[in-house]
Amino acid sequence: MLTVLSPEMKRRAGGRDIRIVFDEATIAARVRALGHEITAAYPTGELLVLGLLKGSFIFLSDLVRQIDRPLHLDFLVASSYGAGTVSSGTMRLLYDPETPLEGKHLLIVEDIIDSGRTMQKMLSLLAVRRPASLAVCALLDKQLLQVPIPEVRWVGFPAPPAFLVGYGLDHAEDYRHLPFIGDLN
Ligand code: IMP
Ligand code: MG
Repeated sequence: MLTVLSPEMKRRAGGRDIRIVFDEATIAARVRALGHEITAAYPTGELLVLGLLKGSFIFLSDLVRQIDRPLHLDFLVASSYGAGTVSSGTMRLLYDPETPLEGKHLLIVEDIIDSGRTMQKMLSLLAVRRPASLAVCALLDKQLLQVPIPEVRWVGFPAPPAFLVGYGLDHAEDYRHLPFIGDLN
């Protein structure tokens, strides 16, 4: 896999040199496989896919098109990072799904699990709504947790200990549009 940006991609990235970690084809193949696994895991029941904004938006849109069963889609909005690159651990819920969650299979779609605090908080907020089941599909996992979160059932890729951008992931709202996942530093 080519890890250096083409001049075209470097222009799209505002001139910044970003090392490609997962290219478009690698991501697409993995998202297809995740879609098949998720389809098989929910043979019955109501599936509500909840995309955690904003970072999951591109992954979410690709993933739901690879899930071959009926589903409903809504979003969760949490805020924790601002313009920094280090997790603050505080989280605000800015948007709550409008549909009732009780009795549904909830699948949270997240861009990246770093310290895991965002996901832990989100899971405890959703568990009290009495869903039929609660699972997470994260595109990336930095695997920093001593004790893994049991609800994290699917991970796209283990992530290197770097600050990653692209394919929805940002640094201060920049780089989300890049079609690959790259290392900013
Ligand atoms: P955690 O709460 O420390 O697990 O942080 C998870 C959240 O931080 C994710 O939803 C991302 O929005 C953001 N984040 C963590 N690491 C990165 C990264 O490498 N690039 C971009 N965003 C990140
Ligand atoms: Mg972010």
